[in-house]
Amino acid sequence: MAEYAEITSISMLTSFSEPEETTISSKTRYMSKVVVAGASGNLGPSIIDQLLKNGFDVTVLSRQSSSHIFPEGVKVRHVDYTSRDSLCSALAGKNAVVSALPTHALDCQTLLIEAAVAAGVQRFIPSEFGSDTTNPNCALLPLFQNKILAHEMLKEKATQCGLSYTIIYTGPFLDWGMKHGFMNIKGKFIDLYNNGDQIFSTTTLPSIGRAVCGVLMKPIETRNRVVRVHDIATTQKRILSMAKRVTGPYGWMVNKPSIEDMLSNSFTAYWQGMQDVDTTAGFIAAASWGRGYGGVFEQTDNELLGIPMMSEDVLRGLIHFLWEQ
Ligand SMILES: NC(=O)c1ccc[n+]([C@@H]2O[C@H](COP(=O)([O-])OP(=O)(O)OC[C@H]3O[C@@H](n4cnc5c(N)ncnc54)[C@H](OP(=O)(O)O)[C@@H]3O)[C@@H](O)[C@H]2O)c1
Repeated sequence: MAEYAEITSISMLTSFSEPEETTISSKTRYMSKVVVAGASGNLGPSIIDQLLKNGFDVTVLSRQSSSHIFPEGVKVRHVDYTSRDSLCSALAGKNAVVSALPTHALDCQTLLIEAAVAAGVQRFIPSEFGSDTTNPNCALLPLFQNKILAHEMLKEKATQCGLSYTIIYTGPFLDWGMKHGFMNIKGKFIDLYNNGDQIFSTTTLPSIGRAVCGVLMKPIETRNRVVRVHDIATTQKRILSMAKRVTGPYGWMVNKPSIEDMLSNSFTAYWQGMQDVDTTAGFIAAASWGRGYGGVFEQTDNELLGIPMMSEDVLRGLIHFLWEQ
């Protein structure tokens, strides 16, 4: 029976990567010419993948210094993010821009928004894909100030010109986070923030790609607003318990950092001018797992955007898949 559940999970995981039934009908497609900035990083490839699967015409912007090889079917424009002309020329004739630029490069996004306006782009999806900065506590965290400035800029543009926007909140990346973020399955390591009891919204990279497609296929319903998606709302403790069943219970290193201590250290370091990974860790932990920071979405736009909720069986299958990789 347990074996059957496992097999079912894995086959469900395959369908979780390729959900034929949730691929959004091409009849409803509208914003078909899409530019993705920052497409070669952690998140970008999953966005490109889903856009291609859903038949979008995809162009990526990549820095002139970058030698990344993009998948077949993608047009590549090497741009100078400091040049309005370079960006305008790359955006001419496109319907939408999706930014997956890293937090430390959001200055580039400001000019990208200006260029999108000048080029007559209709929809801008800024680089977000994480914590809900409409939550007042989250909005006070220094890490998110550049993202909030982008929202303000986009809101202003939406009242002045034809550029509309959609902001996508997803919570922490689930699959990526279990490898490189809050835990490392292969290394049997986890940080259980405040004991790991807090329920949080979390989304896999393929589902984020699907959410982007859903927004572009529902441009009216998603116009000038925030959307929230998650695959599952669960606790870190629950994930650890499932991981132990998959990997065996022994050899796990379980850290239990205090979010309050981390946050205090992060603020101290930030006020001293630091902006490195250690400094941002407390802000990320608070926004994702701290109480009162909006880390669990009460309501989601999953249905609108065609994102099925993940069952615990599928989550177990994903853990199994990452462990076996
Ligand atoms: N919720 C979560 O758990 C989570 C986790 C990670 C990230 N995120 C969010 O997801 C978004 C994308 O992050 P990411 O981790 O995918 O980004 P990333 O991998 O660090 O970078 C994405 C791409 O941006 C380009 N890039 C890098 N530095 C740049 C610079 N200084 N100027 C211009 N372009 C630059 C590079 O592409 P080229 O070399 O092709 O130019 C890079 O591959 C961000 O908003 C981030 O906050 C959320």
